[in-house]
Amino acid sequence: MSTKEKLILPTMGCGTWAWGNRLLWGYDESMDSQLQEVFNLCVSNGVTLFDTGDSYGTGKLNGQSEKLLGKFEREYSGVNKNNICLATKLAAYPWRLTPKSMVAAGKASAQRMGRVDLAQMHWSTANYFPWQEWQLLDGLADLYEQGLVKGVGLSNYGTQRLKKVYQKFSDRNIPITTLQVQYSLLSTYPVTDLGIKETCDELGIKLIAYSPLCLGILTGKYTDKSTYPKGLRGLLFKRLVPEARSLLNCLRAIAQYRNKTMSQVAINWCIAKGAIPIPGAKNIKQAQENIAAKNWQLDAGEVAELDRAAGAIDKPMVQNIFQTR
Ligand SMILES: NC(=O)c1ccc[n+]([C@@H]2O[C@H](COP(=O)([O-])OP(=O)(O)OC[C@H]3O[C@@H](n4cnc5c(N)ncnc54)[C@H](OP(=O)(O)O)[C@@H]3O)[C@@H](O)[C@H]2O)c1
Repeated sequence: MSTKEKLILPTMGCGTWAWGNRLLWGYDESMDSQLQEVFNLCVSNGVTLFDTGDSYGTGKLNGQSEKLLGKFEREYSGVNKNNICLATKLAAYPWRLTPKSMVAAGKASAQRMGRVDLAQMHWSTANYFPWQEWQLLDGLADLYEQGLVKGVGLSNYGTQRLKKVYQKFSDRNIPITTLQVQYSLLSTYPVTDLGIKETCDELGIKLIAYSPLCLGILTGKYTDKSTYPKGLRGLLFKRLVPEARSLLNCLRAIAQYRNKTMSQVAINWCIAKGAIPIPGAKNIKQAQENIAAKNWQLDAGEVAELDRAAGAIDKPMVQNIFQTR
């Protein structure tokens, strides 16, 4: 048994991919004060897990999302301060080749955030550069052993790969606290096809659902071409939104019946599945809406109806290219 301090994970968290990403999400520094309000509102309402990554922000904005999180945490003095969990993901960059490089990456993140509570391997290199992976995982384990992080987790791992890594960490007596995968009503693959939830339960690992709103589609606000965001997301939505029509109708009907919003139903569905959703919020209105997705429950019939609608989709959201089996 580990003697390390146990991490407190709430039923839902907040993602910060958009906080720092100019190209993909249109972030600019004028958003910082509203992002700080998002942070404060989340924490004061018990949403205390914040997920970021050392790759969130490039060029001049390198590490921006981590820097913002660190600043917001330092300046926050309200309730739940002690429950804040700062989680980051360390990228398996091709130039990170040794355990030491992973430890250095963890230290750099801690420098930007003030500390790292949960360090996660952002993706597995198993599909294209298998030997690198064990080096980086050793570094992740070192971070934990050296007391530089309170917990370690993985991201984009499938069942088979997860079991191998679990064995390796068990040999060093290091618990894996979390696994995050792309999981939403438009991306059920990791659970329905890979059986990742059962494996996580078996191994005592908490499942985190990333992109639980499928990048915004499940909010229902992207209805036709004229509403799509610019760039890559818009291209993806062109195919996905028409494909998701019947699912979105089902979500809308349940939301209306429940007097909730579609986002709230989509997030609550993840909670009903036993996962910790981390929807990204860019402003206070989105955060308020997302926070109200917790503390109530869809009933079994509603979950089954949503499952049926999700299962009927021919071509759901593409999986992350790094997702392993
Ligand atoms: N491990 C990985 O490889 C990985 C990959 C991706 C994401 N993640 C993590 O998961 C987090 C969340 O995923 P995500 O940001 O990709 O997708 P998401 O949570 O499914 O969607 C977030 C986007 O949806 C829109 N939105 C959120 N709440 C809304 C609301 N209540 N009403 C209307 N629009 C709303 C916002 O964009 P607009 O306002 O522009 O529509 C927001 O940026 C990330 O921040 C990151 O921490 C991890």
